[in-house]
Amino acid sequence: MSVKKQILVTGGTGYIGSHTVVELLAAGYEPIIVDNLSNSSAKIIDQIEKITGVVPVFHHLDLCDEKATRDFIDNHPAISGVIHFAAFKAVGESVAEPLKYYKNNFYSLTNLLTACAERPVNFVFSSSCTVYGQPNHLPVAEDAPVQPAESPYGNTKQVAEEILRDTAKVSKNLNIISLRYFNPVGAHASALIGELPLGIPQNLVPFITQTAIGKRESLTVFGDDYNTPDGSCIRDYIHVVDLAKAHVASLRALELNKISNYEVFNIGTGKGSSVLEVIKAFERVSGEKLNYTIGSRRPGDIEQIWGEVKKAEQILGWKAELGLEDMMRSAWAWEEYLVEHPIV
Ligand code: NAD
Ligand code: WQD
Repeated sequence: MSVKKQILVTGGTGYIGSHTVVELLAAGYEPIIVDNLSNSSAKIIDQIEKITGVVPVFHHLDLCDEKATRDFIDNHPAISGVIHFAAFKAVGESVAEPLKYYKNNFYSLTNLLTACAERPVNFVFSSSCTVYGQPNHLPVAEDAPVQPAESPYGNTKQVAEEILRDTAKVSKNLNIISLRYFNPVGAHASALIGELPLGIPQNLVPFITQTAIGKRESLTVFGDDYNTPDGSCIRDYIHVVDLAKAHVASLRALELNKISNYEVFNIGTGKGSSVLEVIKAFERVSGEKLNYTIGSRRPGDIEQIWGEVKKAEQILGWKAELGLEDMMRSAWAWEEYLVEHPIV
């Protein structure tokens, strides 16, 4: 009987983490979730069970607690891989409360790396395309320069990448992949898990679905005077299920020793969509007419970005399979599910 590989999933009850747990189970891994539930609900464990038939192992743990993190890792000697999602992620809040972000995102990372230092571990980290700022060339490739961060949140991703690169360099045990996600959206096809924004959503797609369901009155499109074909900003939206699969592909690549030391990968579709195109795709698949107005630009927004995604295809054997309509259809099904089954 083959023993399943144990993978620690920090932030595993969160948006991307929960979808990744589902894909890890499907791929024959044994995920072990740790989360302090600061931005997620323990009910997600039941939702994962409904999808997979498996109750994933869950531990309530704050990774900022150094001793508890070390004890946890010491008590789980079979863990061979770590996917580190746990972090705070709200850009605006990070500007208002920088120390909250620096503390949480750095203490959790350094505690985890310190706890894992003595054993061979394959490590996958959640980075972000935010490290590129507004790139000079599109699509933006992994070797494009990192630009000064627009926010403390963005800075935590830039510095975390440096921490990981420096640590991998001197560690015999750790091989590390940083995945630079573009804009994750959508939900699982079952509509049993999806994004659960606290309060007023800051991101486009949850704002669209909450407006269409009647929780918000109207969406403001932040600017239609950019130098883009329809004047609205362009992003590389990536379906969360495709993104989850990129983590499984990353673990496999690490297990097969395709990565030594440290590598970064863009995880996107390689295709840009404008805000107005996203709204149109939503209206097409939902049959709803979205109430929106054109407003002024949002400070700090970049005009346009989409990723060069060849490196992930060549080395990880991963590529996005789902398109914008799949993203909007699943996001809408999840919003409709929440009406009957609120998760708080
Ligand atoms: P999320 O908030 O849904 O999930 C993060 C989880 O981490 C939450 O469940 C939260 O409770 C947990 N957590 C936070 N601090 C913790 C701590 N100290 N100890 C234990 N658990 C802790 O966010 P998400 O959208 O799933 O994002 C996951 C990761 O991907 C984050 O690192 C985020 O910065 C990164 N990322 C997200 C996006 C995006 O748009 N969603 C884009 C690029 C990168
Ligand atoms: C997308 C587009 C807005 C809301 C953020 C973080 C980034 C990364 C992903 C973590 C933009 C427009 C939005 C609205 C709008 N996260 N918009 N009206 O800003 O690309 O990236 O999330 O790493 O770091 O900055 O995503 O969803 O906020 O915006 O017109 O009410 O939608 O201007 O063009 P963004 P977003």
